Amino acid sequence: MSATTDELAEGSLAQDPLIKDPLTKDLAPAMERLFDIDIVERDAPITHIEGAIPPYVRGTYYLAGPSQFEVGDQSYRHWLDGDGTATRLDFTDSGVQLTHRFVRTTKWQQELDDGRALYRTFGTSFEGDQLKRGIGLESPGNVSVFRFRDQLLAFGEQGLPFALDPQTLDTRGVHTFDGRLNHVSPLSAHPCFMENGDLLNFGVSFSPKQPSLTLYRFAEDDGSLVYRRRHPLPYPCSIHDFIISERRAIFFLSPYLLDVGAMLAGGKSVMEALSWQPERGSELLILDLENGDLITHMPAGDKYCLHLINAFDHPDPNRVTVDLFELDRPVYDQYEPLPNLFVDAPAGRPRRFVIDLERGEIVEARALDYRLCADFPAIDPRHSHRDYDDFWMLGISKTGQSGRKFFDRLERLSWQGRSSHWQAPEGTYLGGEPVFMPDPATEGRGCVICQAFHALNGEGEFLLFDAQRVENGPLARLSLDPPIPLGFHASYYPR
Ligand SMILES: [Fe+2]
Repeated sequence: MSATTDELAEGSLAQDPLIKDPLTKDLAPAMERLFDIDIVERDAPITHIEGAIPPYVRGTYYLAGPSQFEVGDQSYRHWLDGDGTATRLDFTDSGVQLTHRFVRTTKWQQELDDGRALYRTFGTSFEGDQLKRGIGLESPGNVSVFRFRDQLLAFGEQGLPFALDPQTLDTRGVHTFDGRLNHVSPLSAHPCFMENGDLLNFGVSFSPKQPSLTLYRFAEDDGSLVYRRRHPLPYPCSIHDFIISERRAIFFLSPYLLDVGAMLAGGKSVMEALSWQPERGSELLILDLENGDLITHMPAGDKYCLHLINAFDHPDPNRVTVDLFELDRPVYDQYEPLPNLFVDAPAGRPRRFVIDLERGEIVEARALDYRLCADFPAIDPRHSHRDYDDFWMLGISKTGQSGRKFFDRLERLSWQGRSSHWQAPEGTYLGGEPVFMPDPATEGRGCVICQAFHALNGEGEFLLFDAQRVENGPLARLSLDPPIPLGFHASYYPR
């Protein structure tokens, strides 16, 4: 594959039809190597650690991400297309153990057996490609990993998760929640967890006449389905994430519409069947966590949201605050064509909405002074569903300049306006949600962990930062030999 990607690196940027600006530059040297990392499954200690891992970091970190961007002779076009791998770092008194495995999805296994691509993916369609039972994508299990009961669940966009062994990462199979969901139930890649451990998730039905969203709640103690509640949507829109406060589930609906007919009958990829229609406006939809019932919904501007940050109820029972990262427009079109991503990445900013539930109105909508494309917001988990200040994200420093680019800043932002960041050196790219590892001795203190890939020499690392002083650079660098692809979402479970 390297010859192909080297050719792409040298020649394709100016020729690519999506890159229309003749002034387009290569703002990310060697970034094609991000998508050309051979997967080496392993279960081995990390032998080279620079710096010091704080002694309170004891527990298990998980990461999911896309990898392997070609199957047989089929090259993938989109960052979301790659087959999922799961990664585990186990932090103990005697060191750090790394486990890295493919998620053995139905798609991965069948395509391995056949030696060729069989299934259409999020951004790649091809002659004779298949859909899951003719109506959806076979999940590549590549977006997120979370523990629920005795499983680790690997989620993809809009499909059932795959259950993995939390220690070995061996794939146990499709997780149907004990048969309560069926193989074609839509389900997002972003579950939320209540204080009692119950899992909430949602699925979208893209029927053009009756688009709807179904909210599910599963009990932590016995896995039972507490409820499922279906709500009409104003349009059949792509919804990637949601957030919960202690008592409410909050959805930001962006007018990014999926023409499901074009996908099912027209042979288009999901990416090709999506269209941005900002004139239709965005909405906030708020449901009651207790029973899944509708509380209220309201217009919410005309921007796009991929990920929310946090939400919390106020002492006033009619008020809730919802924080999210708002983008000027959707970003999925910037995940292609591999390897030249984010050529025209939209600017974004953290946005805080305070909502009066009784009046069904936004009473405050304030944005932080931030102008970069950024993603993967994370908070101190002790602040979930509570008033808080700080959060962390990965930013793209060259937002606004035309040319391929990638995440290269670790950001620490606060709702009081403080901000700091660590800028990766030229040719180093960051990945993996900067998940927070709390210091149990000190409220608000801890570290954040993310990945780095040094594209110029092909080396990979995990980096740990003092969460409050990211600008000082990594506290510890955990070398990966060989590297692993940059992932999407991560989770951390302290002992
Ligand atoms: Fe996500």
